[in-house]
Amino acid sequence: MQHASKLIVFTDIHMTVKLRAGCPEPESRLRAGLAHALSSVPDADMILLMGDLTHWGDRGSYRKLRAVLEDVPLPVVPMLGNHDNRAKFREIFPETPVDGSGFVQRVIPLGAHRLITLDTLIAPREGDAFSHAGELCPARLAWLDAALTEAGDAPCIVAMHHPPHATGFEAMDGIMLRDGEAFHDLIARHGTVQQILCGHIHRTIFGSYRGTPYAVFKSPVGQMPLIFAGDDTSVECHDPPAFGIVIAHDSGVMVHTEDFPAP
Ligand SMILES: [Fe+2]
Ligand SMILES: [Fe+2]
Repeated sequence: MQHASKLIVFTDIHMTVKLRAGCPEPESRLRAGLAHALSSVPDADMILLMGDLTHWGDRGSYRKLRAVLEDVPLPVVPMLGNHDNRAKFREIFPETPVDGSGFVQRVIPLGAHRLITLDTLIAPREGDAFSHAGELCPARLAWLDAALTEAGDAPCIVAMHHPPHATGFEAMDGIMLRDGEAFHDLIARHGTVQQILCGHIHRTIFGSYRGTPYAVFKSPVGQMPLIFAGDDTSVECHDPPAFGIVIAHDSGVMVHTEDFPAP
């Protein structure tokens, strides 16, 4: 490996101001995970937070997250998930770049790679029932098309909270990205996406879909138990918390995960 860029990946932090009954305390979990990650990957280039930053999308939880991140000596790239609130996030994290339509997505150079972070939080339309599913919508797909065109031949890593295809958990597959096939059509046309990174499931999953490799990471808080069937999206187990390490190098991408002791 001549050149390598390293990302530390935390997803599904679910920060709250008040403790949720029966759930681990998110702030101490995140602090313990960050300390473990920064000491075990001291040459990391940045930290990616892949959505569900908070559980209820409230200002207090975003402020609490912001306070934890103040001690982090690396650039931090926050993304949104279904539990987030775009307007409140932008209020508390006003310096985070957004695209021309106000979606929290951007392109970050990563050595020879481009890291493209997408905003898959549904933009609610009048009359729509609330859903924990994700979407890119025509505006965000057009933005991604332009970003991939701009990247030219550069290899790309796409990070998105919602998996853009089924991952085998029936309940979670019911709230995956709604326009995943359009996303896959688009990246197939460009042919430069080497790796997709996701959260949302709260479990380590690797695979490929239509030829593109993907990785899903565990959360610092509750994990998804091995129950493939059923329709309960809220089941959680107390498997150890974890974070991911993604290494982009001249010949491709490596993906690791690391459990850390719960405080
Ligand atoms: Fe989550
Ligand atoms: Fe989620």
